[in-house]
Amino acid sequence: TIKLGVLGSGSGSNMQAILDAIEAGTLDAEIVLVLSDNPDGYILERARKAGIPAEVIDCGGFKTKFPDESQSAVAAQLKAAGVKLVCLAGFMRLVKQPMLDIFPERILNIHPSLLPAYPGLMAWKQAVADGARESGCTVHYVDAGMDTGPIIKQAKVAVIAGDTAETLHARIQLEEHSLYPEVIAAIAAQQ
Ligand code: GAR
Repeated sequence: TIKLGVLGSGSGSNMQAILDAIEAGTLDAEIVLVLSDNPDGYILERARKAGIPAEVIDCGGFKTKFPDESQSAVAAQLKAAGVKLVCLAGFMRLVKQPMLDIFPERILNIHPSLLPAYPGLMAWKQAVADGARESGCTVHYVDAGMDTGPIIKQAKVAVIAGDTAETLHARIQLEEHSLYPEVIAAIAAQQ
């Protein structure tokens, strides 16, 4: 049973999907720690409801930066909890060294587009604005770039007539909720 640490910033629906897969028995894993840089992120509440330790990451007052000291502290917390695989689930800060050195090829991210298309923020909005006919989601290993690491698996979502950024994002999220647990299960099975 692989020990997971989950980092998020928002609603935590992907963290919930991972938890649901564990409960359903389709993913042999345990979420041992949930961390959020946003003290109001619903992800923290979801974790606590499930009895999982959940804490706020101190980013030293920076709005978007993930300072080195914070990354070192997070890595130490994850290590102390016995985490073997780190899952970014809607985490809105850029993870880089020193976390990448401490968890080499052990950090996953889910991104709401078919990378390399539409990296960065609000990828679903970018897809609609661009008139894309198709988008989707990608699970990839995190490297030092923004949404650039090696792709593990993608799921496609058609953009349909009348789609707004919100309706497209909702359909992409449905795919995310099956793709992410599936990829984690495949990695867990290799351990
Ligand atoms: C998800 O759609 C995820 O792909 C996206 O944020 C959402 C978080 O939702 N991540 C990014 O855009 C990362 N660049 P959640 O908190 O409900 O899982």
